[in-house]
Amino acid sequence: ASGQLWTGRFTEATDAFVEAFTASEHYDRRLYREDIRGSQAHARMLNAVGVLSDADTRAIVEGLDAIAGEIERGEFPWDPGLEDVHMNIEARLTARIGEAGKRLHTARSRNDQIATDVRLWLRAATDEAIALLRRFQHGLVDLAEREADSIMPGFTHLQVAQPVTFGHHMLAWYEMLVRDEGRFRDARERLDVCPLGSAALAGTTFPVDRERTARELGFREPTRNSLDAVSDRDFAIEFASAAALTMTHLSRMAEELVLWTSPMFDFIDLPDRFCTGSSIMPQKKNPDVAELVRGKAARAHGALHTLLTLMKGQPLAYNRDNQEDKEPLFDAADALRDSLRAFADMVPALTVKRDNAREAARRGFATATDLADYLVRQGVAFRDAHEIVGRAVRHGVAHGRDLAEMSLEELRGFSEAIGEDVFQVLTLEGSVAARDHLGGTAPAQVRAQVAAARERLAGD
Ligand code: ARG
Repeated sequence: ASGQLWTGRFTEATDAFVEAFTASEHYDRRLYREDIRGSQAHARMLNAVGVLSDADTRAIVEGLDAIAGEIERGEFPWDPGLEDVHMNIEARLTARIGEAGKRLHTARSRNDQIATDVRLWLRAATDEAIALLRRFQHGLVDLAEREADSIMPGFTHLQVAQPVTFGHHMLAWYEMLVRDEGRFRDARERLDVCPLGSAALAGTTFPVDRERTARELGFREPTRNSLDAVSDRDFAIEFASAAALTMTHLSRMAEELVLWTSPMFDFIDLPDRFCTGSSIMPQKKNPDVAELVRGKAARAHGALHTLLTLMKGQPLAYNRDNQEDKEPLFDAADALRDSLRAFADMVPALTVKRDNAREAARRGFATATDLADYLVRQGVAFRDAHEIVGRAVRHGVAHGRDLAEMSLEELRGFSEAIGEDVFQVLTLEGSVAARDHLGGTAPAQVRAQVAAARERLAGD
């Protein structure tokens, strides 16, 4: 294309297919704000060290502001022949301001430029993910408080195991999200360094002030090795990894929401505004948002794998392979952002069908362990207690009766150690209330953890 920025060495024009094959502007234009910000910081630094004149610097900074306006208004003449966001903007700058535009790329390469742009973009995406994670955490804590006493079956192997409180289950989700937030915060630390000044790979012959550009762009410090700075994409992989694991968590939650809304479980109701209908079956109300979150987890997982594979064969320093990092990274960030937003809005708005959830726990012999523990307190060895209760459950299954529905007479048929007071431990409420220690499912513990979570969320 006319306007290419590296024609000097070439004797023929780029093959049309190769031009299209190597172009990335159709997706990396998403980085235009970061690219312009980075260029302005670079120009001001060159000015401060005496490489760019005041007049040229002003023309560059103002010209780039004008270009940002053009892009935002949809008036920018994007040209795939100019390959990427960097050369599109630089060519446009020179078209607008002349000579000064051609001086901007002094002491710089697209290699340190793109490494800076992506870090700036990802830092903002990381902050957004953290904010959304916290909004969702808030919602879960509210829901946990509301449902601190609601009883549902806890499952292992998807079989009814022991009664738990719905609030306890919501706080389990909260804990997963707290770890996710920690991973993003940790990744942000390593991401927060500025490659500018590394130039193509070896640094530059100009007296650059790297501290200054790093500071202006809000980075903690400049990178310490130019070869590493232009070829490191660890920060992208770390983001994708944190996103993939967060999406795994959201996907597990999605699976539970799908199960719980199914008429076979019928533990919860989702507001109509978060559900969709069927084009053929009039009775349907489908949990599509949860299913799409489960589906989008696949994108995030794929992105992580793509990035790991992209990097594994690359010798130092920059290789064009790196251009392939953007689409998976954007895709993972979008899937994460949209999924977090969907759940932060939807989950706290669910209604627990308390009677149904409680009934499912009652029907599933969920207090069998409580009866065994009771026998142990009467002096029976746990293994014997286990056997005794197993026989009682077999009897209950045969006669369609829960343990709490048997007479004292009937229960004493299995063990003489059983007394009048047994019925206190056989109730669902008694069962959850008895697990009253740090990390247990008792309503009192749920309330204590809600208070601790609120305190944590109030800090920073
Ligand atoms: N579009 C490129 C990328 O995304 C920018 C750097 C190109 N550098 C180069 N030497 N071809 O990585």
